Amino acid sequence: MQFDTIIRNGTVVTASDTFRCDVGIRDGRIVSLADTLENAAEIIDATGLYVMPGGIDSHVHLAQPSGDGIVMADDFESGTLSAAFGGNTTVMPFCMQEKGTTLRQSLKDYHAKAEGECYIDVSFHLVVTDPTAYVLGQELPALVADGYSSIKVFMTYDNLRLRDDEILATLDSARSSGALVMVHCENEDAIRFLIGRHEANGELAPKFHATSRPVAAEREATHRALSLAEIVDTPIVIVHVSNREAMEEIQRARARGSKVAGETCPQYLLLTADDLDAAELEGAKFVCSPPPRDKESQAACWEGLQNGTFDLFSSDHCPFRYEDDQGKLNEKGKRNFRWIPNGIPGVETRLPILFSEGVGKGRIDLNRFVALSSTNHAKLYGLYPRKGTIAIGSDADIALWDPEKTVTISNDILHHGADYTPYEGLEVKGWPVRVILRGKTVTAGHELVAGKGSGTYLERTRSSLL
Ligand code: URP
Ligand code: ZN
Ligand code: ZN
Ligand code: ZN
Repeated sequence: MQFDTIIRNGTVVTASDTFRCDVGIRDGRIVSLADTLENAAEIIDATGLYVMPGGIDSHVHLAQPSGDGIVMADDFESGTLSAAFGGNTTVMPFCMQEKGTTLRQSLKDYHAKAEGECYIDVSFHLVVTDPTAYVLGQELPALVADGYSSIKVFMTYDNLRLRDDEILATLDSARSSGALVMVHCENEDAIRFLIGRHEANGELAPKFHATSRPVAAEREATHRALSLAEIVDTPIVIVHVSNREAMEEIQRARARGSKVAGETCPQYLLLTADDLDAAELEGAKFVCSPPPRDKESQAACWEGLQNGTFDLFSSDHCPFRYEDDQGKLNEKGKRNFRWIPNGIPGVETRLPILFSEGVGKGRIDLNRFVALSSTNHAKLYGLYPRKGTIAIGSDADIALWDPEKTVTISNDILHHGADYTPYEGLEVKGWPVRVILRGKTVTAGHELVAGKGSGTYLERTRSSLL
């Protein structure tokens, strides 16, 4: 058999197995897994390397419109480039429904931003901000049939949040349409009350972002989201969980028989609320929601990654430049934490952090690493088995990892559009040294091999949770 590419002498890792074999690729797909393969136009030597499914980051924010003159630091070009250098072959950003418009109109605008710009494959979640009868009754079922099979709803943020009755209606429509619902769980009324109290006391520094969004506000909203989902018997994903109390809500809901997936992110493993208290306004770099908590919460999130409370490890990459009047330190944000845009960059560092802190430090094994970083994302969001594994017939989306390569994370080596990384100076061991998308090399070491536009848009099928 003639192959386009053979990956030779590597150790293949999937969510279930680790084995020595060669990988044969033809027409962008994996067509053979065998002891020794011969006869290819290109041979890639993977001696000493792990051959893993390319990372799937199912929670990133790119080129999102935000009012107030704030501009996101990554568009599709820089965001997917950065993701590729971080070992990913698919990212899933959010298409925001602009209030007063339909989902279709928002999708048209968002697709236009992505067209021809992507280095790796992309697929969009839909954020429902205006759940009209038309949107829920007519648009959503048709969009699911067209491959948009997941939506996100917010319980916080003035301009995005849905009321409980709106969440119920959205969940109900998602169930009958076949869409998986992701929920951002924080109690907006409590947060607004606390922000108001901080403002009245003149407490305006970045660190008060963390105290205005306490664990109880996240735990209460998590419980409420799970209860609403139970009432209409609809599976949900609790995204970006930051602490043990919210995790316990997920565990209790599962014990009652609910279908729930859980997600956590690097910031909840490595950062704490103390980072928001850095000198000057540096704390603004760490402002995200839910905020990073404390050491005990970090330990809890590791437990959740080990014991299955979490199915997904995503970046929640949501980049803003720090020293920029359209970013973190905009005119209003400099004076009051409530105007600092929420979100931190992390699409390129997600996998090296999980590999080094997780696999390297013995907290999770290689197969769990693959499940948390790729396979489970493909299954939950309707891309499996085309994506998320190394198997015959799957897309040849592969990351070659050098488990011995030591890298000190610094913004200088990253490819995102932000002017900082929250993980500056962190040393990691293990790095993706080559990324292959549908059989074609995208990155090799520091070199960018593929051209812009190599990535394609992915239509998705039904979630494994439904
Ligand atoms: O602070 C965050 N996480 N910003 C991104 C938007 C979201 O809620 O996921
Ligand atoms: Zn969110
Ligand atoms: Zn997010
Ligand atoms: Zn580089």
